[in-house]
Amino acid sequence: MSADKQTSWSYTEGLPTEDEVLLRARERSYELGVATVSPGVAAALTVLAAGSKAHTVVEIGSGAGVSGVCLLRGLPANAVLTTIDSDVDHLRAAREAYAEAGIPSNRTRTISGRAADVLPRLTDAAYDLVFVDADKPSYPLYVERAVRLLKSGGMLIINDALDKDRVSDPAIREETTNTLRQVGKSVRENEDLISTVLPTGDGLLLAVKR
Ligand SMILES: C[S@@+](CC[C@H](N)C(=O)[O-])C[C@H]1O[C@@H](n2cnc3c(N)ncnc32)[C@H](O)[C@@H]1O
Repeated sequence: MSADKQTSWSYTEGLPTEDEVLLRARERSYELGVATVSPGVAAALTVLAAGSKAHTVVEIGSGAGVSGVCLLRGLPANAVLTTIDSDVDHLRAAREAYAEAGIPSNRTRTISGRAADVLPRLTDAAYDLVFVDADKPSYPLYVERAVRLLKSGGMLIINDALDKDRVSDPAIREETTNTLRQVGKSVRENEDLISTVLPTGDGLLLAVKR
């Protein structure tokens, strides 16, 4: 990457001004040792949620609620976020963040459990948007389930798709990198999906179901 590109990336990541609610959610994430979406990704989620006008959203990997608050802020007032996390402490922190953001409790459905066990219980072709930000080895499974859950016209968003810039380097053959490379390839080659990758944060893979 040229020095200018690096500067532009840092510039765009520094553009969003986050309010107290998001800063406190980031602080709780830090205390719990859970990674969060970057400020650039957080802002992109709000814009994508607003543009999609989604009413039914699934998030895999609630963390301490940073991404959930950003999604909910972009969604219409009657939209519902179904968010899944295997860690009860993370979910508790996420609920705190939603409450601090003034989100009515009937707009979030927090589900505790392993996503691989929870996703088959959700209704196929019933969701407008699915956001994936959890354990990387399961991404291929999550993508397969997400495509089933999405309605036609629904959007899939996958975080960390560039794996800290390793996906683009064919010499790097680490397991996580290979998994994310494979996920990108399978999404690109899936004729039911229209996709692209944004270099925001650590890479946001976007796909719309035909
Ligand atoms: C990167 S964090 C999510 C951060 C969140 N999206 C945000 O930006 O605030 C990943 C989350 O996935 C959860 N997780 C990891 N493996 C999981 C699994 N198999 N099923 C469900 N959640 C899982 C972790 O507990 C963690 O909270």
